[in-house]
Amino acid sequence: MNKILISLVTMLCMQGMAFAQAAITVYKSPTCDCCKKWISHLEDNGFKVKSVNMNNVVPKKIEFGITRQTASCHTAVVEGYVIEGHVPANDIKRLLKDRPKGVRGLAVPGMPVGSPGMEQGDRKDPYAVLSIDKQGQTRVFARH
Ligand code: CU
Ligand code: CU
Repeated sequence: MNKILISLVTMLCMQGMAFAQAAITVYKSPTCDCCKKWISHLEDNGFKVKSVNMNNVVPKKIEFGITRQTASCHTAVVEGYVIEGHVPANDIKRLLKDRPKGVRGLAVPGMPVGSPGMEQGDRKDPYAVLSIDKQGQTRVFARH
């Protein structure tokens, strides 16, 4: 009995550790403040963040298939997935866990108030997290 419990706990800890090591690279403008806040949100949720400052992030967006319709301030890459804008850490975790077929990344277009890094007091505008597939089609992944 105890053995089973111990191995279960060990397994869970290892999963936790594996997750804590999920490395995400964020491409952002050096002057963007909400980007920094989003990075803190990711770090608070166990991501290991590498932040890369660039004066023009647009080439990165094009490289990773982000369009005018899905674009936000920063562009990030985690385990080959593109993460555009203020996507909540929990949605990224769900993406990495479920790995839905054909999906190449997630985006929160624009910068909705109340999304992680875009806090403004109690104001929370409803927004959707979109998944982007390999053909560039989007679909609602989560609503907040
Ligand atoms: Cu922003
Ligand atoms: Cu940003």
